[in-house]
Amino acid sequence: MAPFKYGMIVEGENYCPRAELARQFSKLIESGLNVVVQGERRMGKTSFVCETVKTIRSLELVYIDLYCVKTIEEFCRRVVAAVAALNRSAGFIRRTAQLIASLRPVLTLDRDTGIPQLTVDSRSANSVTSLEEVMDMLSFHASKRKLCIVFDEFQDVLEMADSDVLLARLRAKIQFQNKTPHVFLGSVRNKMHEIFDSPKSPFYKSATSFTVGTIPANDFKSFLAARFKVAKRKVSDAALDRILSIADGISGDVQELCETIWLATDKGDSIGDAEINAGLKLVFAREDKVFGPTLSRLTPIQATLLKGLARNGSAKPFSGDFMSECGIRNVGTVTRALSRLAADEIIYEYGGSWRFVNPFFREWLKLT
Ligand SMILES: Nc1ncnc2c1ncn2[C@@H]1O[C@H](COP(=O)(O)OP(=O)(O)O)[C@@H](O)[C@H]1O
Ligand SMILES: [Mg+2]
Repeated sequence: MAPFKYGMIVEGENYCPRAELARQFSKLIESGLNVVVQGERRMGKTSFVCETVKTIRSLELVYIDLYCVKTIEEFCRRVVAAVAALNRSAGFIRRTAQLIASLRPVLTLDRDTGIPQLTVDSRSANSVTSLEEVMDMLSFHASKRKLCIVFDEFQDVLEMADSDVLLARLRAKIQFQNKTPHVFLGSVRNKMHEIFDSPKSPFYKSATSFTVGTIPANDFKSFLAARFKVAKRKVSDAALDRILSIADGISGDVQELCETIWLATDKGDSIGDAEINAGLKLVFAREDKVFGPTLSRLTPIQATLLKGLARNGSAKPFSGDFMSECGIRNVGTVTRALSRLAADEIIYEYGGSWRFVNPFFREWLKLT
């Protein structure tokens, strides 16, 4: 069994506890507030929210994943599935089905597990009225038990046809469930911004903002050291520091690098620079198909600028030194190249400097 997991929700022994953050977040949802959780992708938003809600005894988690949801029917289906997961008893499922009768719910038993599944008929579940019916069903359950309703990848709602009508209806329904905490998770900064911070949006200022950033280094290092120990590898504090620094502390990237280091080593090995480099090489081998074409799509100026940023992390791209090093004379050229690279989601501005969305791409560029 791989001691490191990435690219999925982590829990239990694969989850590094985030006590302080959990305390702050619990306080908000226990007081019934709606919360919008933001953070860069792979920081651990989904894992954090699910794990934290699960530890609050008085709340039951309804986890609705809206990833790539395109139609109202699909939206309804996902809500119904999440509600059905709350309680598999025949009585509960029957009651839920009655509440959404006009969507022609279909009750089936999973062939392997025998667990009852509830789904809805596609032709009957594609109007705004269906969405309202499903939301009313959710409200009904929320009036009977204490729920915490989590919408993950919420920004994908914007990709649905008539998303503005939908958002308005959704907001109207949620507004009346004022004892139930709703949590909205989003990975794409700008789009979540559009929903919660634009005065034109129905969700404007409707939720308290909460940020999930990197795991405090010492907590993460103890967690990782323990995982390496389970896998019979020895790892020094300095090696862990280097791993965190290569991956910018981004939870998912740190775990991926640890996994490749684990793959590149054997039981009893000590992890030092050579082993970290071997792990990094495995990451590059996986990503080569993406990194190469990304680089070759750039204009020469963009590529030079990007490599400059990769080599010198704290560089101020508008400084005379940096520009002359890159052979760029014109400030306007730098501005245009940076905004293009940001629009392509290769870099983003953070507190006055520029960071790579994918830290492994930065490491790869250093070698080109
Ligand atoms: N608390 C944690 N402890 C250890 N690894 C974590 C933690 N949170 C996230 N990760 C790592 O990050 C990956 C992505 O987590 P996820 O919750 O899906 O992030 P997000 O929702 O922000 O994209 C996980 O698969 C795991 O490798
Ligand atoms: Mg997520």
